[in-house]
Amino acid sequence: MSDDATLIAAARAARERAFAPYSKFKVGAAIETEDGTIVTGCNIENSTYGLTLCAERVAVFKAVSDGHRAFRRVAVVADTADPTPPCGPCRQILWEFCGDIEVILANLTSDMGHHRLKDLLPLPFDARLLG
Ligand code: THU
Repeated sequence: MSDDATLIAAARAARERAFAPYSKFKVGAAIETEDGTIVTGCNIENSTYGLTLCAERVAVFKAVSDGHRAFRRVAVVADTADPTPPCGPCRQILWEFCGDIEVILANLTSDMGHHRLKDLLPLPFDARLLG
């Protein structure tokens, strides 16, 4: 298992690759799989705005597409004084693939806190309800 600093550093590096010409708000994410692999994502915007993908979803979809199905932790980095938490849709996507994962929020200089996804997404909808 990588340490927090390594996961956060990977998210910071991914953030540098963000395609965010419209909002100028760059985000990086790094997800650690059960086998210790780190998969990163950055936000990728689109001129139609609505097709923008958040960094967290890019990281999860890259990892799932590479065959990973079990995850330990995700780090999210933005250049903000307050922590930047995953948006609602990203929380739902993280829940689908990661369950009650640890969510680490950081900016460019500090680790700003650790959360459980269950606390960020209480009473989640998921496949258990589909019977
Ligand atoms: N964004 C993310 O990538 N992750 C978040 O947690 C919050 C928002 C992106 C989407 C958009 O490209 C920009 O940040 C501004 O909302």
